[in-house]
Formats: sequence, C-alpha cells, structure tokens
Amino acid sequence: MFSPVETPFSTGSHTMPSMQGTESTSAPGNLIDCLVNQTLITRVSSSSLASITATLADLESLIELSYERYTYTMNDADGTNPDKDATITPDDMRRLRRAAVPWLVKVVAGEWAITHENEDAGGDQEEVMERAANLMAHMSGRSGSGAMTRTWYFPAPPGDINNSNIAVRIHEPGVVGDDIGFKTWGAAPMLAKKIAQTNLIPNLHTHDLLELGTGTGLVGLLCAKLGARSVTLSDYHPNVLATVSRNVQENAFSAPLVTVSKLDWRDINSPSSLPGGTYDVLVGSDLLYEIEHGRLLPRVVERFLARGARRDTGAGAFHFMAPLRRTHWEEVRVFEEEMTRHGFVSVCTEESEREEEEGGVMTYRYWEWRRGCEV
Ligand SMILES: C[S@@+](CC[C@H](N)C(=O)[O-])C[C@H]1O[C@@H](n2cnc3c(N)ncnc32)[C@H](O)[C@@H]1O
Repeated sequence: MFSPVETPFSTGSHTMPSMQGTESTSAPGNLIDCLVNQTLITRVSSSSLASITATLADLESLIELSYERYTYTMNDADGTNPDKDATITPDDMRRLRRAAVPWLVKVVAGEWAITHENEDAGGDQEEVMERAANLMAHMSGRSGSGAMTRTWYFPAPPGDINNSNIAVRIHEPGVVGDDIGFKTWGAAPMLAKKIAQTNLIPNLHTHDLLELGTGTGLVGLLCAKLGARSVTLSDYHPNVLATVSRNVQENAFSAPLVTVSKLDWRDINSPSSLPGGTYDVLVGSDLLYEIEHGRLLPRVVERFLARGARRDTGAGAFHFMAPLRRTHWEEVRVFEEEMTRHGFVSVCTEESEREEEEGGVMTYRYWEWRRGCEV
C-alpha cells in the first residue's frame, strides 16, 4: 500500500524543511511550532490542494530530519553538538504527532477533495491521500510503517582531509513476516557513528570484517564506506538476507568487496552457512533478545574471530553495541559470563543513554572484546 519514502536530503547537507514550500533557515523546532499552532489547526476542508501538499512536504521532511538525530547528535566525542539546531528531539516529534495525526486522518478521509476549489485535481488528490496515509504510518513508528529508503549520514572520521559526511543508503521493507531484522534498530546507528567518529577500528583498510545478525546492514556498509578490505554481512533469515543484498546494491558495492552470507548461530558448522575461515574484525548490534543468544554468540565469536592478532593493529576485536532493556538483563548477563568463559576479555566497556522515540531513555552498552591471551 505504501510507497517507499525517499530522503529529501542530498549527500552531506541538511536541507531544512520549509513552511509552505519556501526555503527556511529556522530550526525544525520553530517549524514544528508553526505547524502545530497555525497550519494543522486550519480546517482541511477550507484548505487548497497546494497548501495541503506543502504541509505534507513539511511533515515528510521533518520525519526524515528526526532520523538524523541518531547520527548527528549523540555522544559527540568532544561534548559539542554542531548540528543541534538542525535536529529534532523525540519530544518535538511527540508534539508534532499529536497535532498532525488528526489532521492527516482528515486528509486521508478526503473531505477536502469535494470542495469547489479542489474538485478538478483528479489524480493529484489520490496521491495526496496516499502520502498522508504513508505519513500516518511513519508517525506511528517504524514498526507500524511500510517500506522506506533513507540515507544515514555519519560524521567524517578524525583527520579526514575532505571532512565530508559519509552517507549510507538503507532500504527497510517494513514488517512482512517473522524477521526481526526488517528495520534498523537503535544500536546500529549508535555503533556506526562511534566507528566513524572515533576511528574505532584502526587500519580498517587492512581488515576483513564480518557483521553478525546484520539486519539492514547499516554497520557493515558503513565499514565498507570507511574502506574495510572486505565486509561480509551475515544473518540467518532469508528476508533479511534479501534486504541486505538490496542495500549492498543501493550503496554501489559488489563482491568480493562486500558479500552477503547466511550464517545461523545455531548451526555454525553447516555447509550451507558461511564458508570456513576467520575474520580480522567482528561487529554486531542488538543481538541479545533471547536467552539462547547469550550462549550462542560467544561460540560464534570464538569460531570466526582471527587468532594471534596484535592489539595495535586493530585486528582481533569484536565490537558490539546492545540496548540494556529492563526485560533482557538476563541475556546480557549470560552473554558476558559466556564470553569470559570462552577466554574473552572486554578491553573497553562504555554505556551511553539515548532518548527513545516512544518516550523514556534507553541505555546502550558498547563492548570491545578480545581474546584474553592477546590483551
Ligand atoms: C534486533 S535485530 C538487529 C539487526 C541489526 N544488527 C540492527 O541493529 O539493526 C537482530 C538480528 O539478529 C538476527 N538473528 C537472530 N537470530 C539469529 C541467528 N540464530 N543466527 C543469525 N542471525 C540471527 C536477526 O535476523 C536480526 O537481523
């Protein structure tokens, strides 16, 4: 039913949404104020098609901009936030949602379409209703929305002479079946940002990298953009593997630089799984939501992480970011215990908080795991 939402941003730049289609330099918070206090309280039936279309464009841009807070605003290494004015807080979004959803319902219902002014608009009216329905879905969160394709922007690594943001284009199919990798989860952009912004993986261009439970592939594809020697994106679910293959193409990568492989943690020696061999670096995000994951992942890391690496080369590390959900403490505890039992040591453990879309604050834990004998 829903067509994919394309990002309105061009690479590396912020295009601010504007009231009624005019360019604006105001912060998104101000635009939200205007929409909430003026535009969205105007009766839809007395609005022209042009003004409805312009408001839809503003809402679409604001939704896209709201995704950028993951990549631009969090955990800046020096504590500053250069893009503060260009980002949207979850609180802004909640305020916008409260005002916009009733307005969108009326646009979808089409009562405005029978007014004299709009009656000749024909196909445009259908497109407007479709866009409004799509926006309603996105306002209810990624789990409730349809397919979308968007571009994530990450800060240039320190010392990058061009200082240009890194863009990773990601298609998310929306919920289609039982696969949990249908969307990009919060830990993925957090880990990707950390990798880009802090040069987390030294000498990336000399490393073969494996992403476990890749989902939409954001972290692994970012590493490919940063110049990893090769990247293997792995998952067990056929739908996820299909989506991530598409995302490899969206970013103009192909084998042997970036490959997609089936790897089921429950069956790491299966011939249909990833071929033998080890990888210099492993990455993963949000992989502990069932108790068996806490037991399986350490075995997977033990099997696929290269041995005998020198720490200063950046090789021999598993970089992992996971949300500390109140309901999933046991998974995290078992994972840490099992990693230790398999001889791994966390040489870096950090926690950071992020305000969630749905309200509340989530704490995320990042680990860099290495074999104890190599530390
Ligand atoms: C919560 S999602 C996280 C996806 C992605 N890393 C992210 O952060 O957006 C968990 C991922 O782990 C994958 N997964 C779950 N069980 C798995 C298994 N037994 N073997 C391999 N992958 C698995 C799922 O298919 C899904 O893509």
